[in-house]
Amino acid sequence: MLEPALKTYIERIPKTELHCHLEGSIQPATLLKLAARHGIELPFTDEEGAKAFYEFTSLNQFLGIFALACSTLKTRQDFETITLDLGADSASQGIPYREVFFTYAYHDRRSIPWEEVISGIASGREKVKQQYNVEMWFIADIDRTVDPQDGVRLVEMAQASRDQAGIIGIGLDSQEIGYPAKRQKPAFDLAKRLGLHRVAHAGEDVGPESVWDALQSLDVERIDHGVRSIDDPALVKHLAERQVALTVCPLSNIELKVYPQLRDHPVKRLTDAGVLVMLNSDDPPMFHCNVLDNYFAVAETFNLNAADIDQYARNSFKAAFLPDERKQQYLADLEREIKKLRSEIL
Ligand code: ADE
Ligand code: ZN
Repeated sequence: MLEPALKTYIERIPKTELHCHLEGSIQPATLLKLAARHGIELPFTDEEGAKAFYEFTSLNQFLGIFALACSTLKTRQDFETITLDLGADSASQGIPYREVFFTYAYHDRRSIPWEEVISGIASGREKVKQQYNVEMWFIADIDRTVDPQDGVRLVEMAQASRDQAGIIGIGLDSQEIGYPAKRQKPAFDLAKRLGLHRVAHAGEDVGPESVWDALQSLDVERIDHGVRSIDDPALVKHLAERQVALTVCPLSNIELKVYPQLRDHPVKRLTDAGVLVMLNSDDPPMFHCNVLDNYFAVAETFNLNAADIDQYARNSFKAAFLPDERKQQYLADLEREIKKLRSEIL
């Protein structure tokens, strides 16, 4: 059992989240409300039913259910609602800064205009800042399976809406098997030229070769998941030497059967090898967890102490796409808070 003092410490220490999907974060109550708003029938009728429905066998099977959740999002108001929900959730978990993915391909396929998505997340983000003093920034993810010219088109649209919606970067997600990162090289080359940050989901459903592909073909600055890098010592060394951050989502990996149990998960081995690992939730309600739950579970399974927690919190700010001066400010605030929490709680 996790010691109660360490649990409180985890709850109160400031941390960022850098790997969370907007569309994967719709709480069951909101999902039911959105479905009712649009007359959409879901395969469950209450919150308990939704929780039970979220049972996964693989990433690809999960993506079908992710698309089902997306089907409830139609208007600017819907996107504002889920952004606001995520802001409230950030405040409740001690997350003052969050970078959030959205994947337009799932809306484009349903002919939802880009402007509808952008105006919703833009106004949601403003309200989140006002109501919760939480900074939310967006990363526009390219679905790996889209045609490369659609990847380029997404970067162009993201660039045009950059200031309006707080878009700081381009990512890559969805089906990893059969869709190598290098297919989307033109989009990522353009993103780099435009000064947008670049990240990619890799090393989740495919092994280390997929992480190498994202690093070498797309010149990404962080890897989302990246856990299967552990199978290639040369890659682990490379990540550690260059301090390429991994945005690891331990409980997501268990839910999607990447590893059978948390004690088999490489999060601690990667950390011990010097890789800049930070902890995230991925698609929180779908994986029956939030960021805190991921910290709790890792702390309990690997017998972590407060110093280990400090390091994950520090890494979460180090890996963020914050301008340098602001990053130093957040890190200084964190050190102050650590001192305070140590004397109050431990
Ligand atoms: N989209 C939402 N969650 C994802 C994940 N864990 N991997 C790939 N694409 C995703
Ligand atoms: Zn993800």
